[in-house]
Amino acid sequence: MSYAAPLPPRGTFAAWRDAARTAISHRIPPDQVEWNGGGGLFAAEALPDTPGPHQIRVPEEFVKLAEQVIWHAAAERFALLYQALWRLDQRDGTPLSQTDPLGRRLHLMAKGVSRDIHKMHAFVRFRELPSDTPRRSFAAWFEPEHNTLEPGSSFFAKRFADMDWLIATPRLTAQFRDGVLDFGPAGARPDLPDDASESLWATYFANIFNPARIKLDAMRSEMPLKYWKNLPETRLIPEMLKDAEARVQRMREAGASAARPGSAPVSTRYRNAMPQAVALPDSLDQARAAAMQCRRCGLCEAATQTVWGTGAPDAALMIVGEQPGDQEDLAGRPFVGPAGQALHQAMAQAGADAGRVWLTNAVKHFKFTPRGKQRLHQSPDRAEIEHCRWWLGLEIGFIQPRLTVALGASAAFALTGDASPLTARRGKVQTGLHNGPVLVSWHPAHILRLPDATAQARARQELVDDLRLASAMASAT
Ligand code: URA
Repeated sequence: MSYAAPLPPRGTFAAWRDAARTAISHRIPPDQVEWNGGGGLFAAEALPDTPGPHQIRVPEEFVKLAEQVIWHAAAERFALLYQALWRLDQRDGTPLSQTDPLGRRLHLMAKGVSRDIHKMHAFVRFRELPSDTPRRSFAAWFEPEHNTLEPGSSFFAKRFADMDWLIATPRLTAQFRDGVLDFGPAGARPDLPDDASESLWATYFANIFNPARIKLDAMRSEMPLKYWKNLPETRLIPEMLKDAEARVQRMREAGASAARPGSAPVSTRYRNAMPQAVALPDSLDQARAAAMQCRRCGLCEAATQTVWGTGAPDAALMIVGEQPGDQEDLAGRPFVGPAGQALHQAMAQAGADAGRVWLTNAVKHFKFTPRGKQRLHQSPDRAEIEHCRWWLGLEIGFIQPRLTVALGASAAFALTGDASPLTARRGKVQTGLHNGPVLVSWHPAHILRLPDATAQARARQELVDDLRLASAMASAT
């Protein structure tokens, strides 16, 4: 006997969950269910209309995994999920664990989906359409790798709540009108007009384009080739490259500015030593290797090295500081100096297990002013934080923490895009640009700089309280 379980292109998760619940309640084994038609040898019957006698308790971990995997493009996703559910019910091994081939496959699929959503948020470019209502109207064309328009659209609904917009993809169309998000069938690729915001992008990109720093590999790593054709800024690249040599020559003739004292350009040291940057990194290690060659902004010129995050690559909790300090710059690891010691003490007091946390910074290079033999900390500016957000986004994308703590204003801005004062935000959870929760707290260096002992003790206690809350939120099931 075999059963057919057809699933709709929208609302797929709820439909799969209901069908899987029915099938398992009748103890129908995985090899007897043809998800989405399957085309098996035997004529398939519809699943029973009513639930069977067998009841199953599904762990939360499975539901979370299934909610991601369901959007993967692989046709076998439904069957794999049902196999895992069946094995959970039969107590057959640990089908959700990374050590089990099925579990590993499901986790990889979930990561692929999450990365695809991340890319959509970064690479969708809207163009303005004529509108006869007070709300402005925009449209975009995008080609995701998986079925990620549905789970990825709530991000745009929040971000662009005051406009009407449409995102068309080859499989589905999302439409947001008067605050209501709706999905419709895929249409042909719309013929979208050029508009002012597009030429603004292109002008901005042409202006920041420094021909002496052309690194096509790095550019590709920031904007994977697949997306170039739909990005207005990249259309200028061939033209700009044609002129690059001449522009470099003109810059040389104009006289390059002298290197800053203490500079030991990262570019020189790493150019030969490191492997070339790969296209969009596939792993946290690849992202780290690419970050080691980062020359996205001027900070790389004087810093000793890129200071990448450290800790557990599957951490549920990520703690983000501002930037490496003097000691971190030399050691190549975050939070090893005085502020780091204060942070580690606060974490210990809060019961946050340092071995299960990912520690990193909003900006990966040390910014300083040389003063005699000393290098005095300077806070990164907005542009530097924005340039470095690429790396922070990759760390978040690969690690997928359940909660991120922003220590201080720079980290809070990097993670949320909100630059308002911290006093009103400290201890509260905001939604980050990655759409995940961000708990805002004081930076330990800020606490150490407070002149008054009472204020210092209070702020320190607040940091401990925040870390305790963060740790509980990250480990809650
Ligand atoms: N301050 C930070 O923000 N990060 C570090 O790594 C060290 C000090």
